[in-house]
Amino acid sequence: MLIKERFEDLWETRINTAQRYDELWGLISEVLNPNDTKTILEIGIAFGGTTRFWAELADRLIAVDMDLKLLVADPDEFACETTLIEGNSREIQTVEKVYKALGAKKVVDFLFVDGDHSAPGCLGDVECYYDLVRSGGIIAFHDIEFSGVRDAMFDLRQSEWFEYTEEGTFQDAPGTSTFGITWFRKR
Ligand SMILES: C[S@@+](CC[C@H](N)C(=O)[O-])C[C@H]1O[C@@H](n2cnc3c(N)ncnc32)[C@H](O)[C@@H]1O
Repeated sequence: MLIKERFEDLWETRINTAQRYDELWGLISEVLNPNDTKTILEIGIAFGGTTRFWAELADRLIAVDMDLKLLVADPDEFACETTLIEGNSREIQTVEKVYKALGAKKVVDFLFVDGDHSAPGCLGDVECYYDLVRSGGIIAFHDIEFSGVRDAMFDLRQSEWFEYTEEGTFQDAPGTSTFGITWFRKR
């Protein structure tokens, strides 16, 4: 569980991230249930600016980036068991590494998609990892103000294979302003 005080401490010692305070805190405090957010998968680490927040929430964290040289956060200091995987998130080798890292229980409670922001990239990440997300789990996307991500959201809403808790329920995290986090709960 990540309390506001700890969130603010982390935010103050901030590692470069494109996140907005209200958006990230809104997602953490109002969307992600601390009692059932045990395993998190992040696509797109960059400097580790969001990764270290997920490490406070989860028991198990797996994060993927095609270039880990950017990483500034120190995973050895993370509060939970963490596996960082370097590779293109949509390549089969990377997907296999994620599945392997999850061990016997191949279930993700929260998938954060913040890697390739093109529409095919964003949709591809969902296709690769959607099956891992448990029923009732959360899938969130950053940068919905970017046209590629926005287009991907539109396509997802239209696609027949994709189910929503309620029709058309992509919801902005409270406080969303510029870059935007959108999330939905898997049926
Ligand atoms: C916007 S940054 C992530 C920011 C981070 N989540 C945060 O908020 O602090 C996007 C990252 O995704 C990575 N990326 C882009 N395309 C990718 C792909 N196909 N597979 C894996 N990582 C990718 C980039 O290397 C970059 O580090």
